[in-house]
Amino acid sequence: MKTIGVLTSGGDAPGMNAAIRAVVRYGIYNNINVLGINKGYRGLIDNDIEKMDLSSVADIIHRGGTTLGTARCEKFMTKEGFQEALETIRYRDIDGIVVIGGDGSFRGAKELSEAGVKTIGIPGTIDNDLAYTDYTIGFSTALETILDAISKIRDTSSSHERTIIMEVMGRNCGDLALYSGLAGGAEMVLIPEVEINIEEVAEKITQGMARGKKHSIIMLAEGAGDAYGIRDQINEYIGVPIRCTVLGYIQRGGTPVSYDRLLGSRMGANAVECLLNGNNNVLLGTKNGKIFDMDIEEALNMKKKFDDKAFELTKILSI
Ligand code: F6P
Repeated sequence: MKTIGVLTSGGDAPGMNAAIRAVVRYGIYNNINVLGINKGYRGLIDNDIEKMDLSSVADIIHRGGTTLGTARCEKFMTKEGFQEALETIRYRDIDGIVVIGGDGSFRGAKELSEAGVKTIGIPGTIDNDLAYTDYTIGFSTALETILDAISKIRDTSSSHERTIIMEVMGRNCGDLALYSGLAGGAEMVLIPEVEINIEEVAEKITQGMARGKKHSIIMLAEGAGDAYGIRDQINEYIGVPIRCTVLGYIQRGGTPVSYDRLLGSRMGANAVECLLNGNNNVLLGTKNGKIFDMDIEEALNMKKKFDDKAFELTKILSI
């Protein structure tokens, strides 16, 4: 293992920089040349690659986003684009690649590993939508950002005695809405994992008002619908003032919280260890506080378990 490459792909996530830093420094510590591949798989196709040294990753551990840049590269999934990427890997004498990203990025990692490239995946996405790992890098920071927004929304919704629907990201996974809803004391959580019954939602708002609740916060996962559409549907049953907030890309940025930095640092070093030990074509994850690795295909075939206890608890605590 003489030369390895590292790339970040898909949506950026706070803590990715800690992972890049760890791959680079742990690699150099082990006498490996580390190449930074810019803009995800796009950089492999375009040979947009730079040699990393210790200072390339100085002062980045506290920064959100990814200093390598990222992209959702459709060309990489075409035969032609994939071949160009493989040519760059050969041309640059890259012996192994660390891919930091989410589900889509790992599909690319699987293709690479099947083509004979030693590949390790580090889960970096705010969505926490990967079944095989308890947490992904970026999820905790995004949760904090959402919680901060909930507190601010609470100020205005209580002042005006309004119901507010806050739509958050997560693609097809409700984790960001569910856990921020539980931690933020939301009245309701609407997520793709549980079918939405608008009549019940309207009923719960009415019941709350009847027993003196002055305002309500409804957390909505983007995968469960859009805030304005849901508001209009609720208003078909009850005519209460409902406002909507779509939190958007603010959830992806910001200084990573300690958990994401620690996860990034540990997984970055672990990825290099895997390549050094010949433990290739795996995804790294965390279970019960420990880092582990799992075959890429096996990990991607797992189905995410829904945390019905957290969902029920949110309901009980908001009666
Ligand atoms: O995967 C992270 C994520 O932020 C999702 O929550 C969201 O649906 C998506 O990326 C947005 O993607 P884009 O940056 O391409 O608009």
